[in-house]
Amino acid sequence: MFVAGATGVLGRRLVRRLVARGHSAVGLTRTEAGDQIVRSLGGEPRRADLFDADALTNAAEGCSVVVHVATAIPTKLRTNRKDWAENDRIRREGTKCLTTAAARVGAGAYLQQGIVWAVRGPDGQTFDEDAHPVNDPILASSLDGERIAREAGAAHGFRTAILRCGGFYSSDGWHTRIFGESLVRGRPVLVDGGSAIWSWIHADDAATAFLAASEWPKSGVWHVVDDRPVALSDYLGALARRLGARPPRHLPRSLAHLVLGRYTAELLTSSFATSNARFRSDFRWQPAYPTFAEGLDEVVAAWQSEGFPRGKATRP
Ligand SMILES: NC(=O)c1ccc[n+]([C@@H]2O[C@H](COP(=O)([O-])OP(=O)(O)OC[C@H]3O[C@@H](n4cnc5c(N)ncnc54)[C@H](OP(=O)(O)O)[C@@H]3O)[C@@H](O)[C@H]2O)c1
Repeated sequence: MFVAGATGVLGRRLVRRLVARGHSAVGLTRTEAGDQIVRSLGGEPRRADLFDADALTNAAEGCSVVVHVATAIPTKLRTNRKDWAENDRIRREGTKCLTTAAARVGAGAYLQQGIVWAVRGPDGQTFDEDAHPVNDPILASSLDGERIAREAGAAHGFRTAILRCGGFYSSDGWHTRIFGESLVRGRPVLVDGGSAIWSWIHADDAATAFLAASEWPKSGVWHVVDDRPVALSDYLGALARRLGARPPRHLPRSLAHLVLGRYTAELLTSSFATSNARFRSDFRWQPAYPTFAEGLDEVVAAWQSEGFPRGKATRP
């Protein structure tokens, strides 16, 4: 199996699980530090850039499944269009190059990571994989990546599985750490009461979902989320309690755009409640952390053992 993004939060977990299941795991890397990470997980590092189809073809030689979990999501709260440009390029051009490589090495399957909030139900209702795309330029590249992958699979005869993940959280995930640090420091993390409902997924469970999809390749789109969508105020309130912090502070909507920027403010006020029913049934998968409650217990236990949050939240 070939994993692009092998050194990331999701990729590291996937490589470890592939190796534990006896698969050969080849991890795409760009640096010596990346090579060491992949080796430490039992995988084989191979160097290439995601925007170089020839180099990717060499790196993926001999792999029957190609997985795209690379990303460059901005690690700051207030973002503008420019901050998302590299991530857009990874989703569009990166997918094009990686699917080209998959075709050239004769892979039988290609897995692509997506996000559940790129589609939505009407009026914030619970939705499934068939819901309509959201009209937002920052989300468009995720759906473009899905389309590019699907079209390549159809043209070259490999299976294409799109796994749209819910809100991703883990002790080593930047976004989870910034929430934890903000709560401990008493910074506002909610907008307008935090009534938006989100579907979450612990990064460990996202990795087992990719593992299942790589072992039983099928074509289609699936939502990989836990069992219970939850209001942001309940999720962050539960995180605050576990950290011994005060209840989350709120920002009024009128200030949120100024303080957090448009994208973060809108995300924090948007509901995306969806279900894992299709993925569970098609891949006989179930999350180890069925709700945020079990998942946050694990996150905060891991943080306690490393003495986090203290000081400035940094990428581990
Ligand atoms: N659903 C959610 O809430 C959510 C939140 C965050 C992320 N995600 C998704 O989850 C997936 C994994 O995210 P993550 O947290 O694991 O990200 P991460 O920890 O930041 O890792 C990013 C990975 O992408 C690789 N990468 C970036 N640019 C590259 C390039 N030009 N060529 C080759 N590799 C490149 C990085 O490699 P280097 O080590 O060489 O930099 C790294 O392995 C992504 O698909 C992302 O979209 C979802």
